[in-house]
Amino acid sequence: MVKYEVVITSGLKKPNRAPIGVNFKENKVVFQLYYGSHTYSILNNEDYFVVNIVDPYYIAKSLITDEGNYNYVNLENNIKLPFLEESSKILIYKIIKRNITLRKDYYGKSKVLTIVGDMIHKKDIKNEPCMYSRSGGLLIEMAIIYSRKNLISSDLKDNYVKLLKDYLNIIKKTGDKHHINLAKYFLENF
Ligand SMILES: Cc1cc2nc3c(=O)[nH]c(=O)nc-3n(C[C@H](O)[C@H](O)[C@H](O)COP(=O)(O)O)c2cc1C
Repeated sequence: MVKYEVVITSGLKKPNRAPIGVNFKENKVVFQLYYGSHTYSILNNEDYFVVNIVDPYYIAKSLITDEGNYNYVNLENNIKLPFLEESSKILIYKIIKRNITLRKDYYGKSKVLTIVGDMIHKKDIKNEPCMYSRSGGLLIEMAIIYSRKNLISSDLKDNYVKLLKDYLNIIKKTGDKHHINLAKYFLENF
């Protein structure tokens, strides 16, 4: 099953955004949240969230900031859900299942919350397809490496720095100044 990288926006009190890898199956979406993120604590308590289908630049950017160009979708019973204005399409879900497990993997032990959502609504926002650019794909790879910076052992750190530098060089050839600045942020703060 293909895993798609999206931005999940949530938070009825304060808007929050995070890049998350999800699986779609018919009307449902399934994903796993590692303990410790804002998204984990919000979706452990609130029942609604938005999947934003958006250009990879905004997916990578969502890792380093919760600030954003938010707009809101109104559901019945006065629920106002945040989404990103830059999205080409948004999918709105109600959580129908939660399951907490303990996972042991390469990076250690962690609590994982599996969420199953049922789509209740969808809406075109910009209604433009996200065209593939190498710089977008590489920014996602840089963001993933960056998101693991505290888990990567010191003997492997140099390998990742080399990878980040290689990706930055390609982004310099294939991206614009926004892509290049974000790539530099990931490298310089790694
Ligand atoms: C491309 C990408 C995919 C990610 N997928 C997941 C995921 O599936 N589950 C998860 O818990 N964290 C995932 N992360 C890490 C979270 O996005 C990260 O913990 C983020 O800081 C959470 O933001 P928040 O604290 O605002 O919720 C992913 C990161 C990237 C860059």
